Amino acid sequence: MSLFDFTSSKHKDLSGTQDAYIFGVFSDKELSAEFQKEHPILTSQIALAMENGEFKAELNQSMVMYMPDCITSKRYVAIGLGESKSYNRDSLRQAAATGGKLALNLKAKKVAIEFMGEDILKAADAQALSEGLIMGSYRFLEYQKSEDPYKGIEHVTALSKSDILAPLQYGKQISAGVVLTRDLGNHPSNIATPTYLADTAEAIAKAGKMKITIYDREDFEKMGFGGLQGVAQGSDIPPKFIIMEYSGGGKNAKTLGLVGKGLTFDSGGISIKPSAGMDEMKFDMLGGAAVLGIMSIVAEIKPKINIIAVIPSTENMNGGEAYKPGDILTAYNGKTIEILNTDAEGRLILADGLAYITENYQLDGLVDFATLTGAVVVALGHRYSGIMTNDQSFADQLIKSGIDTQDRVWQMPLDDEYAQDIKSKIADIKNTGAAREAGTIAAGAFLREFVKEGTPWCHIDIAGSGWLKKGRSYQPEGPTGAGVRLIMELIKSWE
Ligand code: BES
Ligand code: ZN
Ligand code: ZN
Repeated sequence: MSLFDFTSSKHKDLSGTQDAYIFGVFSDKELSAEFQKEHPILTSQIALAMENGEFKAELNQSMVMYMPDCITSKRYVAIGLGESKSYNRDSLRQAAATGGKLALNLKAKKVAIEFMGEDILKAADAQALSEGLIMGSYRFLEYQKSEDPYKGIEHVTALSKSDILAPLQYGKQISAGVVLTRDLGNHPSNIATPTYLADTAEAIAKAGKMKITIYDREDFEKMGFGGLQGVAQGSDIPPKFIIMEYSGGGKNAKTLGLVGKGLTFDSGGISIKPSAGMDEMKFDMLGGAAVLGIMSIVAEIKPKINIIAVIPSTENMNGGEAYKPGDILTAYNGKTIEILNTDAEGRLILADGLAYITENYQLDGLVDFATLTGAVVVALGHRYSGIMTNDQSFADQLIKSGIDTQDRVWQMPLDDEYAQDIKSKIADIKNTGAAREAGTIAAGAFLREFVKEGTPWCHIDIAGSGWLKKGRSYQPEGPTGAGVRLIMELIKSWE
């Protein structure tokens, strides 16, 4: 998807006729005096529609209007903002997404957008506006032939008296990372292989002057990546262990660690998954894709901190050499793992990632992202990510960032006693918890075994939040980009 350009302009500076002019309407507030003066006919149309109860200006409700002989715009689109007292920045993000989607349906190329003028569109909100427009009008059309000459929105002019171009552009940069994460998730597993993820990481590293190291299957034994090696054994597709190092902050700046599950297809292995819905397991790399989305934004905006990113990547398949229930693997930190279910593979590859990053770098905080458990979908649905931690004050930072960005996280407990659930009779630990009990937390307790003592760490399970069966507002069906905006907000607070 190519991203459109933005300009910010005072009301009268629109150049040429727009294809759509989008504006926000509160359900309980008059349109601004300025708008009423400039657009008397629209004002009375809206008043009539509201009187009749056809347009109530509920959040995300919309109405398209046409004005004869109008040279400003071919059509006008009113978007409901809901009640003014419940209005917040996410309402604007959502309303902009509704506008963006409508613009696509109307095949609009040139769009102007106004959200109640000065009343609302303050600089800080403009970021949400561009995020909503871009994330809401996201499409993935790469594998469908189309005769349609319409290729999407080309230009957006945001109308505001204050200068909002910088926050609009910042929102665009953030959204570009979300778009990359979604694209990586949408590509099928025969395209988005571990090599594809490694190539994407290389391109990002080059653009952002980052150091990159990629280990291949032949290196795993000497490196001690026994978890990744075990899982990768069943697949002929080459696995990768990707390390990116970004130094934007110098010696005294904070260092953030990121680890993402890059499982490009999860068949379940010998403990094979049911065939219905197995296609969805191409999304099992969304943790890795979120990390790549974040690093692509970092390459652009160059924050003044340091970041180490690690993505262990492989398929989980059923080839002749596939690892089996009962096998014992040894992870990077030397801990032995009894395999009781080859479908609990994500934690095995993350084990090497977490041990490697914490033993080789001094981190002020470490976050891992993974589509790790079906249990988190049962617990939280597709709305919140599950977060677990060994350091409450670090988790609190992420919870706050989740509220600010609406890239939401909900905390699950991780008391030491959950370690009992992953005790093995034959190895140090086993890769499953107690049957049908707290599966998400058992996975978190497992991962904690590989985080070196002293590193503040949060595990974020995005198996639900990472992708949607049914789209809503600025999140279309398919991958959402969960985690990207969450971490970008954390990074901003660390600078
Ligand atoms: N990739 C899956 C988790 C998943 C499930 C992601 C649904 C997205 C949607 C993971 O590797 C897995 O299979 N986990 C098992 C673990 C179990 C065998 C202990 C699960 O959750 O069933
Ligand atoms: Zn699995
Ligand atoms: Zn998996």
